[in-house]
Amino acid sequence: MSAVDRCVTIVSHTFGHLRIYSLTPPKYQRYRVILIEPYESIPHYLSLKIAFRAFKYLYKPLEANIELRIRSSRFKNIAPLKLAYSVYPLSLFALPFFLANYEPNWQGLVAYIDYSGDEASIYSSAIVVRRGSRLGTQKPTAFVVIVNDPWNKLTDKRDVDTLFKLVWRFTITTLKSYLKNVMIPDSLQTPRRKFTVLVRLLPKRETEYLEIRVPEAHDVITLKIPVKSPEWSVDDIPSKLREDLLTIVIRPLIQKANYAPRGVLIVGPPGVGKTVTAEAIASALNLRIAEIRPSLYRSMWYGMTEKFLEYTLKTLKRRHDIVVLLDDVDFLLGRHVSVHETHISEITILLRYLQEPQRPLVIMTTNAPELLDAAIIRPGRIDVTVVMGYPDKEMRRVIALKCAKRYGIEIDDSLLDTIVKITRWFTNAEIDALIRLAASKGEGKITEESLAWARQKFNVNERWRKSIQDQLRWFGENFQGILIKYVPKDTEVE
Ligand SMILES: Nc1ncnc2c1ncn2[C@@H]1O[C@H](COP(=O)(O)OP(=O)(O)OP(=O)(O)O)[C@@H](O)[C@H]1O
Ligand SMILES: [Mg+2]
Repeated sequence: MSAVDRCVTIVSHTFGHLRIYSLTPPKYQRYRVILIEPYESIPHYLSLKIAFRAFKYLYKPLEANIELRIRSSRFKNIAPLKLAYSVYPLSLFALPFFLANYEPNWQGLVAYIDYSGDEASIYSSAIVVRRGSRLGTQKPTAFVVIVNDPWNKLTDKRDVDTLFKLVWRFTITTLKSYLKNVMIPDSLQTPRRKFTVLVRLLPKRETEYLEIRVPEAHDVITLKIPVKSPEWSVDDIPSKLREDLLTIVIRPLIQKANYAPRGVLIVGPPGVGKTVTAEAIASALNLRIAEIRPSLYRSMWYGMTEKFLEYTLKTLKRRHDIVVLLDDVDFLLGRHVSVHETHISEITILLRYLQEPQRPLVIMTTNAPELLDAAIIRPGRIDVTVVMGYPDKEMRRVIALKCAKRYGIEIDDSLLDTIVKITRWFTNAEIDALIRLAASKGEGKITEESLAWARQKFNVNERWRKSIQDQLRWFGENFQGILIKYVPKDTEVE
């Protein structure tokens, strides 16, 4: 006997091209599921897979607001009617399970929204209520929304509120057509949102590979260098740094001026946004990023490492649609500290490459500039050095706001003040982690208490960091060459 046979269908009602079912979940007889579905809705294995992925989060709810991104190259080609079927298993199994175990007195709402056209359209939705409770008198506690968003239109997780209103209005208006006496107070137009799972169906991120063919004896070995689009933009970097970067690096490069820099080195302690800054530069230049990692070209065979690197760089010589990124370049030990013959050859090859007049922009990042070969940072090779230190109060505020927005968490000014105060000498990465931790503790909301709790999980040695900041300042003052500096003073940090 299939699960469908075991449910009791009370009503099947048609409404335009929709059908309304009232079902009893097989295992949870105390609940009633009212499902609105287009008649042509058909199961597809992907719709079941999506439902299963979302179910996993309802099965063990840890955080209040989850954003789940599922990427596939197929979403665009599958009819929404097929994907909309995912609402069925979620409403019949997952939501009743969640309610019975975690929120027995509340109700749940689930919907499938297609956002591949100009406007978001709801294909199917379902509401799970306790038997005997009146429809539309209570805000749902669990809200699962599956959005097919091939053009990435949902940029802000706070859009969930808008989606909720849309689904809520659609569901209730449709239901009214068959339950004549439903009245919905306006206060129910925002979710109680104890637990929201936003499932976004996105196209697979296109990572292109640059194929590098290296002839070897009678064979050809192919290396693959991933090329990706930057995820951060110049708006994400500290404003003090942004101005200088625009003037010294970005604008001259856009104008293809002959005085434009040809390489940028970004120096700073772990987690202060070096990789973010590198991506932001690429994004401002509208270029993609080819990252060269030692794992891609280093070989255990004698002489092969050099050969692989030479061929890689040769392939990257005339690509003007990319930026070459050497992230955490500490693997390239300078000749003054290196004893390994292969590593010395690597540097020599790289120095020669950096000298090439036609090559694309090269960006390097490092924690330990003293380990780099001095010849790298020479005008004509890497012309501009950016030093980044621990963020000041203003930047910490920007980062906290940005992170909260990314996770769909609301924070008011007074909470923001607290965050700025308690994250003295934090790195950008630690601020991000603090926000996530506090949100987990507060089940999706950040409060003074959850912040205080989260803060205790971090061990930040202020004296140590102050001295790193001093060293960075010293590095900046003694640096020979073009320098862009973001090293806030102690008073700006504290
Ligand atoms: N401007 C920013 N706004 C919001 N979050 C940021 C910002 N900069 C950095 N972060 C957060 O900090 C994390 C670490 O940043 P990033 O990877 O750029 O650091 P890094 O300096 O390259 O560190 P490492 O030396 O360890 O490679 C990011 O993943 C992001 O979560
Ligand atoms: Mg990094």
